[in-house]
Amino acid sequence: MSLVSAMKDHEPFPWYQSMREHAPVHYNSEEDYWEVFRFEDVNKVLSDHKNFSSDLKYLNLPNEDNVILPFFKQSLIQMDPPQHKTFRNLVNQPFWPKSVAELTPRIQKITYELLNGVAGKEQMDVIDDFAYPLPVTVIAELLGVPHEDRDLFKHWADVQVATGVGVIGQRIDDPETLRARQQVQDEMSRYFKTILEARRKEPQSDLITHLLASEIQGERLSEEQLLGFCSLLLIAGHITTTNLIANAFLCLAEYPEALTSLRNRPELIPSFVEEVLRYRSPVQRITRFTATDTKIGGQTIRAGQRVLAWIGSANRDELNFPNANQFDLERNPNPHLAFGHGIHICLGAPLARLEGKVAFDVLLQRLSDMNCLDDTVFEPIESSVIYGVKQLPIRIQS
Ligand code: HEM
Repeated sequence: MSLVSAMKDHEPFPWYQSMREHAPVHYNSEEDYWEVFRFEDVNKVLSDHKNFSSDLKYLNLPNEDNVILPFFKQSLIQMDPPQHKTFRNLVNQPFWPKSVAELTPRIQKITYELLNGVAGKEQMDVIDDFAYPLPVTVIAELLGVPHEDRDLFKHWADVQVATGVGVIGQRIDDPETLRARQQVQDEMSRYFKTILEARRKEPQSDLITHLLASEIQGERLSEEQLLGFCSLLLIAGHITTTNLIANAFLCLAEYPEALTSLRNRPELIPSFVEEVLRYRSPVQRITRFTATDTKIGGQTIRAGQRVLAWIGSANRDELNFPNANQFDLERNPNPHLAFGHGIHICLGAPLARLEGKVAFDVLLQRLSDMNCLDDTVFEPIESSVIYGVKQLPIRIQS
């Protein structure tokens, strides 16, 4: 089976379309959660943080240790205002577009080095040789952790994705899954505790030192909060961008004429990156918890419920994106929700966009051929949150 047909066979997009048409706000009675599929409703869930909270306190979690929980509860992504605002202000400066732009030469250098590593070869694996090492090196340097530990980071990210198959609060019956999750959490805690200790003794000019020195209303961050921030940034800072780059190759396999257009008009690269984010969004869904009884799409959701906002579906909503199932390199406007929306909108979006742009600038300059192999086996990541592939071999020629 060709790569493109295999890809089509595994896509969630026809299911989303049918849900948008027939059950746009849907209660999953088996698992006891709600799901929203239309752009308008997903946007509402993400904008209305008062009713659709990120704080686990609204969820009446069973007092058992075999339920899926976020890896670190004390992290930005799980906070509501006013705590969220204070914490976000504390970390956001290095992620402003202006600060991120200063990283351009370093990102270019890493990109060139990665392509030097495959020079003379006829094939490379998009994930292993390029799309994984690029963002993980960038975020490791920013945080101030050794990027030589990247095999360890990949292991942690892979376990988080592979074992986070369910929805927060759902029971996990498989003891092996629970054990693997716990082990990764313990390893990450130990790892960052050692780094925090080292930075306390010997401060450096990195983000971890900055976090250690930061005060919120006269108070320092607790150890739990520091661990939550570091782990979130390390994992969120690479896994998603890896899939952005790899999904861009999937889009090019499906629309080969887009590659010709990019070669003729490299100024289209930023708009290409935006369309990849919309068309094959690396993050497909976000979870919220209802703080009050709340109406959406004509349905009332009781307080304390889980709500899955399918951004991957919102980004294919015909009402907001004409010819939504077509990849359009020049789509404008393109108000996709791939980075979320509202107060939790992705902190790393400027960095991810820059990495995507630099990656394709350099790839197009350096490689005259970078097509997926016709007989590539399509190996999707087994997750309903992260959309991407495990491996992606391509043919290359300088
Ligand atoms: C939040 C997607 C890259 C750090 C988010 C959210 C989404 C997202 C959808 C919203 C979560 C929510 O509302 O609950 C993506 C995608 C990326 C990407 C698709 C790449 C293509 C990055 C990078 C970093 C990062 C490179 C760090 C360097 C964060 C953080 C948050 C976040 C810290 C939490 C923000 C908050 O709660 O205020 N991301 N992300 N992300 N992302 Fe990203």
